[in-house]
Amino acid sequence: MNDDQTSCPVTTDIGRAATALRDGQVVAFATETVYGLGANALDRNAVARVFEVKDRPHFDPLIVHVASDEWLNQLVRDVPEPARQLAHEFWPGPLTMVLEKTDLVPDLVTSGLSSVAVRMPSHPQARELLRQVDLPIAAPSANPFGQLSPTSAAHVAETLGSRIDLILDGGSCDVGIESTVILLTEEQPCLLRHGGVTQERIEAVIGPVQTRQSSSGESAPSPGMLPQHYAPRTPLILNIEADADRLADLRVGVLSLRPIATPFEPTAIETLTTDGDLRTATAGFFAAMRRLDQAGLDVIVAWPFPDEGLGRALNDRLARACHVDRIAR
Ligand code: TXA
Ligand code: MG
Repeated sequence: MNDDQTSCPVTTDIGRAATALRDGQVVAFATETVYGLGANALDRNAVARVFEVKDRPHFDPLIVHVASDEWLNQLVRDVPEPARQLAHEFWPGPLTMVLEKTDLVPDLVTSGLSSVAVRMPSHPQARELLRQVDLPIAAPSANPFGQLSPTSAAHVAETLGSRIDLILDGGSCDVGIESTVILLTEEQPCLLRHGGVTQERIEAVIGPVQTRQSSSGESAPSPGMLPQHYAPRTPLILNIEADADRLADLRVGVLSLRPIATPFEPTAIETLTTDGDLRTATAGFFAAMRRLDQAGLDVIVAWPFPDEGLGRALNDRLARACHVDRIAR
């Protein structure tokens, strides 16, 4: 998995991971969306290490994971009716709800906000881990800040293995992109991040929701909406920005939903599905991006997804991964 001798142990022993978390250690674990970098949410020192390990700016708050309503009720002041309905429909699962926090939640976790993001994951191993720990676990995605999210234990080991205490291996993540984040502290629910539960499914339960466009810097309503995020190191552009003549002399990688014909000769091709099924595409998205990023390419050209359902979440990740300014010219 990783030849680096300084890399942390990888285990499938849930009890060992639970003990490490209770001891204030930083443990990566699988969820159905992506791997999380977990720490006891009530332990400021452990949470501080999560920010440090990820090089994450302190203005970007963490999601707190729970296994039960008992913990939810200790973390938030109130569960308004739409939140109740969404929890009933989508928990455990890839939905994160932002609610008014109680004083129990350290300000470090929420970057000083009066709200806290809470999620009840559905991955059986994560559920059992949370049950055994019996504490709320703060966990951002287990990648260095701004980089591609990990969907396997090997992905975590590659980038953070030498900086953390333990990796709990739970296989590959089924959903494959992060949870949907919805703000429920205001009169009108507001979708802050497209993710594993589609906007269409949410609106079928609570009616129309607002969506917030990405903004830059500290004014971002959800800092994960920063324009550049989820990015490979290799420059990535959308096919509509690609000029076939300019690509002729470059090593080009292609990422697409279905098999496609390209007006240039690609060096590497990642076709996510044969039939266009968006669930399959989502499950394989970050791993495919990572393979392309490791293929020694000059540029990755991505074909946008249909702008509906999970396709919106994938387009959002693509848009944030684009950095036209860095393309080799
Ligand atoms: O699927 C997921 O959500 C994964 C797994 C591990 O659960 N976690 C994850 O965490 O993606 P992270 O830190 O990469 O993304 C958390 C997002 C960020 O966009 C952050 O700004 C937002 O949630 N967030 C957290 N607390 C918030 C709050 N109080 N108000 C608004 N946005 C918040
Ligand atoms: Mg993240």
